[in-house]
Amino acid sequence: MSGNDDIHVDDSPLRACTISRDVQNFDLLIEDMEAVMGEAWGDLSFADSMAFLEQLEPKGMEFVALAIDYEDEEDLGLLERVIQVAKSREIKVILIAEDVTPASLHQLLRGGADEFIPYPLPENELRNAVERLRKPAPIATIAAQAHPASAPHSGESRNGRVIAVHGLAGGTGATTLAVNLAWELATLSKDSAPKVCILDLDLQFGSVSTFLDLQRRDAVFELLTDTEHMDDESFYQALLVHEEELHALTSPADVIPLDMIRPEDISVILDLAKSRFDYVIVDMPTTLVQWTETVLNASQIYFATLEMDMRSAQNALRMKRALQSENLPFEKLRFVLNRAPKFTDLNGKTRVKRLEESLGITIEVQLPDGGKPVVNGADHGQTLAKTAPKNPLRKEITKLAASLNELSQQTETAA
Ligand SMILES: Nc1ncnc2c1ncn2[C@@H]1O[C@H](COP(=O)(O)OP(=O)(O)O)[C@@H](O)[C@H]1O
Ligand SMILES: [Mg+2]
Repeated sequence: MSGNDDIHVDDSPLRACTISRDVQNFDLLIEDMEAVMGEAWGDLSFADSMAFLEQLEPKGMEFVALAIDYEDEEDLGLLERVIQVAKSREIKVILIAEDVTPASLHQLLRGGADEFIPYPLPENELRNAVERLRKPAPIATIAAQAHPASAPHSGESRNGRVIAVHGLAGGTGATTLAVNLAWELATLSKDSAPKVCILDLDLQFGSVSTFLDLQRRDAVFELLTDTEHMDDESFYQALLVHEEELHALTSPADVIPLDMIRPEDISVILDLAKSRFDYVIVDMPTTLVQWTETVLNASQIYFATLEMDMRSAQNALRMKRALQSENLPFEKLRFVLNRAPKFTDLNGKTRVKRLEESLGITIEVQLPDGGKPVVNGADHGQTLAKTAPKNPLRKEITKLAASLNELSQQTETAA
């Protein structure tokens, strides 16, 4: 308590505020704050926010939204102090960041920020974050401190997280996302990045090997068709390594019937992969197969990629009906709109909204069109990080990797 009782926050309509260098740089945040909090929020500069928060009673406000971009990264100390003051008043902190490095994000989350949302804000993310904050749940900071990204490198089981990517229609960028997400996760930091492997389960037309310039191997076929004799050693032997950081199980050299593989086989492979790696990224075939359910159940997150066209929309509906009719966990699906309209394209935003409404889904991730460099990089067997590091598509995937890693650290503790 500051001992300053002049301000009667209970009478104050302010339940939240934004804190930024200039809130006009974050106009989507303004919109979303209005949508979530109505009139009950204000806006403060970094400097004013500290004095203001200090005089509040504990819990005198629900949350602050600390909005930052790369320019603010120069003074992380200031941002950390703002977070500290908010925490000392028991006020939650939602960090909203545009083009900020994962290292800075990590530092601020460790400094006590409760939630992180990339900017431009994905649809509904602010509302979701506020709802999460309102639930009495373990907070991010404890998780981040208890689980530094570097798991011990001994032979012990890692119990990695499975993240699947399923293209709702061919060419919607499933493999592009899987490969680059895997790479960004594997290189999140210099010395404590998670261990990552990618499994190409698009067994017939898988292209992970092409994207990562790896050979398809006969060993994979043997492995898949004889899982009874597969063990940790033979699994690991079948993996190839891209640029020393990313392990990959490529699809077999020859086309095999998808239903030759049984759900049990896939379970065995997933279990072995999970015990060796912190993240297991699975590139799925577009077709629904017997073992789609196996992967869906094993996944923490199941990304479904689509584009703004009829083909994607119809397949999304079919997928939704198929899963729901089998009572499968449809809610695990995270829809990713690839080649999404630019954020400045207001017409495009309306079209995205309409697509969501007509399908009854939420699009949680939007990936921009990265143009020719994306195709060229993939054709040369290289990740975006290598061939087009500044590409807008790469930037979005990097942000996604950082936020997924934060999220998994949170849920690990909550579990
Ligand atoms: N956002 C994007 N911007 C530019 N090119 C893209 C983008 N997403 C995918 N591509 C390109 O489109 C093609 C199909 O992508 P791919 O990831 O193979 O789709 P899928 O695995 O869903 O069939 C590839 O040549 C890829 O490089
Ligand atoms: Mg593919």
